[in-house]
Amino acid sequence: MTPRFVDFPDLSPEQRTEAARVLRDAFADRPEAFGDQAEDEVESFLSDEDRAAFAAVEDGRVVGWIGRVATYSHAWELHPLAVTPGRQRHGIGAALTRELEARAKAAEVITLYLGTDDEYGGTSLHGSDLYPDVAGKIAGVTATARGHAFAFYRRLGYEIVGLIPDANGPGKPDILMAKRL
Ligand SMILES: CC(C)(COP(=O)(O)OP(=O)(O)OC[C@H]1O[C@@H](n2cnc3c(N)ncnc32)[C@H](O)[C@@H]1OP(=O)(O)O)[C@@H](O)C(=O)NCCC(=O)NCCS
Repeated sequence: MTPRFVDFPDLSPEQRTEAARVLRDAFADRPEAFGDQAEDEVESFLSDEDRAAFAAVEDGRVVGWIGRVATYSHAWELHPLAVTPGRQRHGIGAALTRELEARAKAAEVITLYLGTDDEYGGTSLHGSDLYPDVAGKIAGVTATARGHAFAFYRRLGYEIVGLIPDANGPGKPDILMAKRL
């Protein structure tokens, strides 16, 4: 089924609640990421003028959504991206990302970037001391058997442009990725 894209202001109140649930469920293994703030996160994309989001809707149900934050004159942060667990690996995340890329390009944005944390051991970076030569560690990053969203973004043409060591505690970095549109 091909999802329909619906801008956040056009979602019904029920669909906004679903969007919060999708966020909570998608990040259930990382409750510190959204947890009880999922509703506030959805609301911020309706009230903050630097933020915009749209949802993938199937049969009237929100199955995923993506947001962007206008942070620079020519770059947007992709944040967040979530697909409901039961519909992952069906192309919805890629479809949302490609649609955001098209919208960014139309707005003359050159770069989309994002941060994807490894607080649980999804990449080879987890648990190691990234100093010294943090940038030198970028070349060898691989996903572990647990898998990590960085591999998803890499498939879509994003490359690692930086690492924030210990962003989520010792040995738990944030991985910064970007793509020229
Ligand atoms: C990461 C996420 C958004 C991907 O969405 P999705 O709809 O499952 O991904 P898609 O089906 O569109 O996948 C597109 C491609 O990436 C691959 N892919 C998806 N998730 C992957 C992962 N975790 N590791 C490796 N490859 C992955 C798919 O196999 C597919 O490859 P293909 O084109 O060769 O078939 C989704 O799994 C999710 O919501 N995860 C939890 C929240 C999260 O981590 N968000 C991103 C944080 S920055």
